[in-house]
Amino acid sequence: MHTPSLTQDSGGSRKYPPTRFMGSKEKLLPHIKQVAQALEFHSAADLFSGSGVVAYLFKSMGKQVFTNDHMAMSATFAKAMIENDAHTLTEAEVDELFKINLESDTFVQETFRGLYFPDKENELIDRVRANIRNMRNPYKQAIAMSALIRACIKKRARGIFTYTGNRYDDGRQDLRLSLGDQIRNAANLINQAVFDNEQMNKARRGDAMTWRIKPDLAYLDPPYYSPLSDNEYVRRYHFVEGLAREWKGVDIQWHTKTRKFKSYDTPFRNQHRALKAFDLLFGRLSSSIILLSYSSNSLPTRDQLASLLAVHKKRVEVVEIDHRYSFANQGHKKDSIRNGVKEYLFIGH
Ligand SMILES: C[S@@+](CC[C@H](N)C(=O)[O-])C[C@H]1O[C@@H](n2cnc3c(N)ncnc32)[C@H](O)[C@@H]1O
Repeated sequence: MHTPSLTQDSGGSRKYPPTRFMGSKEKLLPHIKQVAQALEFHSAADLFSGSGVVAYLFKSMGKQVFTNDHMAMSATFAKAMIENDAHTLTEAEVDELFKINLESDTFVQETFRGLYFPDKENELIDRVRANIRNMRNPYKQAIAMSALIRACIKKRARGIFTYTGNRYDDGRQDLRLSLGDQIRNAANLINQAVFDNEQMNKARRGDAMTWRIKPDLAYLDPPYYSPLSDNEYVRRYHFVEGLAREWKGVDIQWHTKTRKFKSYDTPFRNQHRALKAFDLLFGRLSSSIILLSYSSNSLPTRDQLASLLAVHKKRVEVVEIDHRYSFANQGHKKDSIRNGVKEYLFIGH
């Protein structure tokens, strides 16, 4: 067992592989940590875990952590680095991921030919998928799948799958490295993130609206709704989400150039539904400390959310954080148009 050394400036995420996941709170971790340290709790549930970086902060603080997300890729990250307290991939096991496998199918090679990666790399992805399927240990399997996902994201300019071909290639080193090397690097980073915090931590994949859990602290970081931008995760990450769930049970939209599949339903795509969903979640979690992330350029507004939280909790505080938010993924002409918005942390006691 080893516990990673945690530093204040990294917010306690020093060992977590850096992520470009949309809406990741990586940069806000020092603030979240500061707020969390002032609260008394033993168990923490992260209902919309995304990259897993906030759940990892709670794990690093010695808490019992429960994670949830409706994306299979997010649940895979959490299985590999939050729930998993001991298993890592040996070098030999990483080598095994690349071996010829006669059971390999050609799904990626056929479905995504010419779209995201060259043929040779598509063939490698199918081979690695087959070798991952054969793994017995679910934690090692989650590490290997997380490594494959991370490698595929790294090999895409902007880290997304909303466009095909090599647009936006800025010659970055990440795009030059082979997919194989990216997988090895990722496995190494994920291995280093594995540690035991002496708690039983659990990763779940599902709709947050159906999760009946009563943690001491509930962290809510749903997609931020704004009529000016879209917050669809599946549209951006369908390829890697498909890897994580083997495209099982999805409805591929064959007429689209990207071969994406239908987005998952969520109330956080419309203001009215989002407000109702917050009301339901706050009510259901009224015996927990509620920590909610939201931003000033989204709806419902700060005042609406604070009033709603006050219906269910005795005391409500709002911490405002000035945040430089990157819109790099939202189709603007410039690579990254930066905009000053405030990030809010609502605390309901
Ligand atoms: C803002 S991101 C969370 C980011 C995360 N806190 C981090 O730091 O990486 C929102 C997440 O909510 C998930 N999500 C959206 N609607 C959901 C629902 N109804 N149930 C569960 N997860 C949902 C998305 O898949 C996405 O991962």
